[in-house]
Amino acid sequence: MNTLTTRDPVSRRRTFAIISHPDAGKTTLTEKLLLFGGAIQLAGAVKAKRNAQQTRSDWMNIERERGISVVTSVMTFEYADCVFNLLDTPGHEDFSEDTYRTLSAVDAAVMVIDAAKGIEARTRKLFEVCRLRDIPIVTFINKLDREARDPFELLDEIEKTLALDATPITWPIGSGKGFAGTYRFATKTVRQIDKDAEVLQTSGIDDPLFDRLLPNGAEAWREEAALAEEGSKPFDLSAFREGHLTPVFFGSALRNFGVRDLIDAMAEYAPSPRAQEANKRVVEAHEPKMTGFVFKIQANMDPNHRDRIAFMRVCSGKLTRGMKAKLARTGKNIPLNAPQFFFARDRSIADEAYAGDVVGLPNHGQLRIGDTLTEGEDIVFRGVPSFAPEILRRILISDAMKAKKLREALQQLAEEGVVQVFTPHDGSGSIVGVVGALQLDVLATRLEAEYGLQTRYEQSRFTVCRWVSSDDATALKGFVDSHASSVADDLDGAPVFMAPSDFSLRYDAERNPAIVFSDVKDYQ
Ligand code: G4P
Repeated sequence: MNTLTTRDPVSRRRTFAIISHPDAGKTTLTEKLLLFGGAIQLAGAVKAKRNAQQTRSDWMNIERERGISVVTSVMTFEYADCVFNLLDTPGHEDFSEDTYRTLSAVDAAVMVIDAAKGIEARTRKLFEVCRLRDIPIVTFINKLDREARDPFELLDEIEKTLALDATPITWPIGSGKGFAGTYRFATKTVRQIDKDAEVLQTSGIDDPLFDRLLPNGAEAWREEAALAEEGSKPFDLSAFREGHLTPVFFGSALRNFGVRDLIDAMAEYAPSPRAQEANKRVVEAHEPKMTGFVFKIQANMDPNHRDRIAFMRVCSGKLTRGMKAKLARTGKNIPLNAPQFFFARDRSIADEAYAGDVVGLPNHGQLRIGDTLTEGEDIVFRGVPSFAPEILRRILISDAMKAKKLREALQQLAEEGVVQVFTPHDGSGSIVGVVGALQLDVLATRLEAEYGLQTRYEQSRFTVCRWVSSDDATALKGFVDSHASSVADDLDGAPVFMAPSDFSLRYDAERNPAIVFSDVKDYQ
């Protein structure tokens, strides 16, 4: 590992996430990437660490029981003169809101595909979120050590289903039991499985080495490799950076094969922190003044303290411990006394962080998802989205004396992004909205464990909701006033229209052309 610091801190940063369908190998790949960075000593530590943390909190039992990860965490490691910030995302689709928000904080993504399965549903969905933001994607086709589909078919599937040019950088030599390694077109080099660190120089695909690696005959492979090289688009860095082309690597995360090529590609091709769009201007990563936005809030694991950690992506400048930052939403200054840096194995106090880094900011509820922090400038970053919930429920409490406490608790949990809470204009009780049903379980469990509130859900007469807005303030007011029994305020007081069915939503939308009905809301 080259630890020489030859570039400025921002250019060295690579902030990325791994997107995949469950079981494609994201956890295994994460572990192997961390091994390269020296961040963990033993494979298996990522899972083990997660489990250890989960035992500390009651509400996390839900997740442990179901073997899924609710927590989005950050892992920082150094490799090849780069500082990598790997933002982990929950695997279960019921927590996809968390994942979408996390993707708003990365500059690149690794897409892991199971070689036997190809593009699966969740990969496609996550890819679409990346595409919305033109996030460049490096593809890792995993599990080549098992029976795999034809590599041409897999590339074709990427191109067709994702409308993304796929350029193989390496090509597999055999597959399943006969998987011998990969050939890299540009350098004519070979890496062999179980000897990943060694690079063999060949004279090209006619080299006799391939006859040795493929004992059942190398001719078919030679034809295939030639076709792959001639038939695919050459790698084009700007097409990749713009999100139109993905370089493809083949490997086996389990056997720690191909991971080195992948991380080298992230160091070489993936962009350093991008400029971020704010409401008044675009903020460049190299600007001297610190700016950042909160994309994730995590309740402290200890239910006796109501502390939270806000995960903030630094967008520009340098964050130093003890500095004061202005919270754009309230105009108040917040001292950043104990920012946590997720470096290597453990959290540690951060002394400084740069654009692209993610720091944990402990707070007692001042910070919300979507919040912007600056050194005084009055701007708000766009792009931490909120999605219209797919499930709406009324929430009821058995002890009416605790209604106020429930309201406060819901407000806090909504600020953390656990659920969305809507307050109907007609004065009826709160409605909670979630994207995935498991979020409801998490909510009920946390309300009981942390607030001592026993609640139950009741079907709401509404099944869909949309944020409503209009350029014409009078038209919006007219619509809201005339639909008081179907309109509620979200956490920020923005009006939300709720309907019993898609059909009735369409009906109202058609009758009110001056009103925009939106299923995504950017925090502003
Ligand atoms: P995920 O986070 O994307 O859900 O996937 P994870 O890494 O947990 O991997 C899912 C399963 O696939 C695991 O097996 C893992 O060992 C296996 N796997 C990952 N990469 C490879 C690979 O390159 N080759 C092969 N053959 N298998 C791979 P499991 O039996 O479900 O879990 P475990 O008991 O091994 O942890």
